Amino acid sequence: MAAVSSLLLLLLAVAVHSAALALGQTVQVWSSCSPANFTPGGPYDTNLRGMLKDLVTVAVSYGGYGNDTAGGGSDQFYGLAICYADAPPEVCRLCLGMAAGNVTLACPRSTGAAMMYNNCLLRYANASFLARPDMVQRFSFYNNLTRPGDAAIYAAALGRLMDRLAPAAAASLRFFAFGRTNITGDQSLYGFAQCVADLSPDDCRRCLQRIAASLPM
Ligand SMILES: *[C@@H]1O[C@H](CO)[C@@H](O)[C@H](O)[C@H]1NC(C)=O
Ligand SMILES: *[C@@H]1O[C@H](CO)[C@@H](O)[C@H](O)[C@H]1NC(C)=O
Ligand SMILES: *[C@@H]1O[C@H](CO)[C@@H](O)[C@H](O)[C@H]1NC(C)=O
Ligand SMILES: *[C@@H]1O[C@H](CO)[C@@H](O)[C@H](O)[C@H]1NC(C)=O
Ligand SMILES: *[C@@H]1O[C@H](CO)[C@@H](O)[C@H](O)[C@H]1NC(C)=O
Repeated sequence: MAAVSSLLLLLLAVAVHSAALALGQTVQVWSSCSPANFTPGGPYDTNLRGMLKDLVTVAVSYGGYGNDTAGGGSDQFYGLAICYADAPPEVCRLCLGMAAGNVTLACPRSTGAAMMYNNCLLRYANASFLARPDMVQRFSFYNNLTRPGDAAIYAAALGRLMDRLAPAAAASLRFFAFGRTNITGDQSLYGFAQCVADLSPDDCRRCLQRIAASLPM
């Protein structure tokens, strides 16, 4: 089950008085560079660039999901590329291309990095992370609530939303679902959940529910 849980992603966004971004606009939402550096000009450099390029091609050709490795022994890189299910192939290609280009600019010598856009995400590391049970924590990022009383209201809305989204995504043909619920009378919480294609519906639902239960408040 560890491998299964590692392959699931769940994204959440709180949008208060604002509409979702238009699909065509591809913007970076988050990125992270590992502090450890490799030596420039060595095999790492060429392996990594080659792998990022391949990842984009693989993901675009295979329905928006690709994984790859490059190098070998102690010089190995592992990569993951995912497009969100509502991104058409040309948006997927554009988004992952931007992510691959920008990740090498933002993290020029990092042994690991992740970059998340509104339409896709790209991640690589010099250790395998696809089968790690701690994937959820390693990928989580969130806004802090500013007022103490907000947490309980937010938690109730989040619970309501996730109770619907996980089964809806698992039951859908392409394993994704969008949802909205009200936080207060005039504030909404929007959600998006997606599983990678090679899971069973039950594993997809279980994994999303497990992630939902571990989301920080
Ligand atoms: C990597 O991708 C292939 C499809 O290209 C898939 O069959 C395999 O399960 C993936 N491996 C992991 C660990 O996700
Ligand atoms: C980096 O991303 C921006 C959009 O956020 C894009 O305009 C630019 O072309 C990207 N750079 C590379 C090298 O891909
Ligand atoms: C990843 O690279 C860093 C920096 O070179 C190194 O310290 C670490 O041992 C590497 N990890 C693996 C699993 O090779
Ligand atoms: C949220 O607040 C906690 C406690 O102050 C802090 O440890 C954490 O880094 C903050 N997280 C973010 C994403 O700002
Ligand atoms: C959310 O909307 C429902 C149905 O319209 C309503 O019954 C409920 O009181 C609202 N909750 C909040 C916190 O505003």
